[in-house]
Amino acid sequence: MRRPFVAGNWKMNTTRSSGVALAKSVADAVRTTRPAVDVALCPPFPYLIPVGEALGDSGVWLGAQNAYHAAPGAFTGEIALPMLQECGCQWVILGHSERRQFFGETDATINQKVQATLAANLGVIFCVGELLAERQSNQTEKVLETQMAGGLAGVSPAAAAHLVIAYEPVWAIGTGVTASPEQAEAAHAFLRRWLAGRFDSGLAETIRIQYGGSVKPDNARELLSQPNVDGALVGGASLKAEQFLPIIAAAAELSR
Ligand code: PGA
Repeated sequence: MRRPFVAGNWKMNTTRSSGVALAKSVADAVRTTRPAVDVALCPPFPYLIPVGEALGDSGVWLGAQNAYHAAPGAFTGEIALPMLQECGCQWVILGHSERRQFFGETDATINQKVQATLAANLGVIFCVGELLAERQSNQTEKVLETQMAGGLAGVSPAAAAHLVIAYEPVWAIGTGVTASPEQAEAAHAFLRRWLAGRFDSGLAETIRIQYGGSVKPDNARELLSQPNVDGALVGGASLKAEQFLPIIAAAAELSR
């Protein structure tokens, strides 16, 4: 059975003090309840160190929202993988639709990052998802296939052990509209079949596929109860402990 994984993507939000307070609330709750769920927080870069300190020995992982693939050097404005490791990161979110939409990231550039991050022994939360127009024109599977093939090119089965996929339909991100549990399950099942073809079915069964896109306490249970939904990548609702913690609790209850 795959252990659920709930990650909070804070995006470009929080201050240092509000981020530390939020991390402490999550760390305290996880320390107290010990849910059978993996949990990660992905704050903005400048807060990685204080948030990591606030998480302490709680078992909550620290993740970054992006990384650059090259070794440290002359790349103004970028962040190298050894820097993230030094800050205590275990995970990096790559291929998020906001990176694709607003920062021109392509399957090819994302692939460089995925390969370099896995080679550095950091976990990758690799995001894929279709636009509304693509769903409406029945292109969802074609789009997912292209993003998976491009983003994961050259990834070995051994490296894929550190890989998590996040299915995030772009039309559901930050909109308050979620995919229905059936839509999510169909996409997740498709992605797992794709992984089985690309690697093998044994490995595909172990790779966690998170759902992302307006996950809230009141829809988490339904989404997470789908057989191929193994957790959530949570944006807006990860910014408030009173919304994020019930999502973790829902995942923990279902994993029993
Ligand atoms: P959302 O964001 O939960 O605010 O829709 C999810 C994400 O973009 O990872």
